[in-house]
Amino acid sequence: MVNGTCNRLRKNKAKPGRAGVSGGRRWGSSLRKTRETKPIWGGVSSVKTGKAVVGASNFTLYTSNSAEGHPCNTTAALALPVGGCYGESMNERPVGLKLGSLSLDVPFFQASLSGYSDHSMRALARRFGCPFALTDVMLAKSVAHPAVLAKAMFRPGDDEHPVGAQILGKTPTTMAKAARDLVAVGYDVIDLNCACPAPKVLRRGRGGALLDHPDTAIEILQAVRDAVSCPVLMKLRIGFSHSFQSQDNFWEIVTRVIEQGVDALVIHGRTVSERFRGKADWDAVAAVKARFPAATIIGSGDVFDASATVELMKRTGLDGFVVARGAIGNPWIFRDLRCLWEGRPLPPPPNLAEQRLIMLEHLDRILASPSAKNRVRGSRGGHPEKWGIGYFRKFMIYYVRRHPKRKQVVQTLIKARTRAEVEAGINAWYNGEALHD
Ligand SMILES: Cc1cc2nc3c(=O)[nH]c(=O)nc-3n(C[C@H](O)[C@H](O)[C@H](O)COP(=O)(O)O)c2cc1C
Repeated sequence: MVNGTCNRLRKNKAKPGRAGVSGGRRWGSSLRKTRETKPIWGGVSSVKTGKAVVGASNFTLYTSNSAEGHPCNTTAALALPVGGCYGESMNERPVGLKLGSLSLDVPFFQASLSGYSDHSMRALARRFGCPFALTDVMLAKSVAHPAVLAKAMFRPGDDEHPVGAQILGKTPTTMAKAARDLVAVGYDVIDLNCACPAPKVLRRGRGGALLDHPDTAIEILQAVRDAVSCPVLMKLRIGFSHSFQSQDNFWEIVTRVIEQGVDALVIHGRTVSERFRGKADWDAVAAVKARFPAATIIGSGDVFDASATVELMKRTGLDGFVVARGAIGNPWIFRDLRCLWEGRPLPPPPNLAEQRLIMLEHLDRILASPSAKNRVRGSRGGHPEKWGIGYFRKFMIYYVRRHPKRKQVVQTLIKARTRAEVEAGINAWYNGEALHD
């Protein structure tokens, strides 16, 4: 299998939380106070005190004190020069994010989500205002095989640029070849996975295991950096564990990859050992930005509520954030985020009619996707419709969270075996009358 390496995560651990963006954790509070641990995140008073982190970030600044009225209603406001820091005013906030040579007009994008972030999810995200998205993780060893990238399902769609490919592996030459091949088929950005906590990945020394092997992680970056000229990102967690050694390794990796010219670090605010437990520690991610203000540092973890992100960015001084579980069955999060970050009022939540349309659109995108077409002739075979309905179910479970009678809706839709049955079920539940018994 090329991707889906982290699929195991979704079985029971990866449940979207209901709370907003976390960050309520106090400074260093995530650390277990045992003899073998030490706090690594101390010393960034700006986060502790809530004051501005000053540094050469990539943000442009938006100031609502403009004499012209609401500046984000104008294109010019979005093209303000790079500011480099947050201002004192509560009304100042960053817009835009630079990933090396790639400039995004808003400071967020869709994360890599194994088993979810395929063509259809990425396309929907883009349609709702997400400026850039990453593929699910792909195993570099498989990508390097010419037959793999011959399949459309592993190549970027013509209509989805810019799009990034994430790769997983531990051998620098293999990672470099995979990166080169992915760029050759059209990917605009390469993201190196040093974060995946799946046991089978760790056992092979890949993903999150690299966090305890700084030399290998650096060699991978160097090899990939030399192989491609596009932006290269690295996905990290805040260490393999909270042990002394892991924390030293984490800082060594961060320091050296920044020296080596990584274009951005995307850091999930949990350790590999924590997997998805507890709340993401955004203060820990902020500590990296505080120590390396000129580097592009992007946070990840528990972004479920668009409205919490502006304050989160102000508080942490980070350059941006990624949306992961919060986007599953919820492309509206990108519409909301774009409105907020462009200074427009939040639209009302989607009504049942809109939810109905988007669920059907998502289903149809899946059925028309290269992954579904691949079922006809793929070695695993399977009927495209049957496969597509099964695959859509994963998203359906999340879409129906908005429905006031979610249990009954799930019970209906889970039984559907054909597109027509799914549509009939959606039509039955997503109309005004469905709310009344
Ligand atoms: C089902 C699932 C699959 C994931 N797959 C990947 C992946 O392939 N590559 C990666 O770097 N991170 C992956 N992640 C981690 C997310 O990108 C993100 O960093 C993490 O979920 C924290 O963000 P969240 O709390 O907002 O979901 C995955 C997470 C989940 C829940």
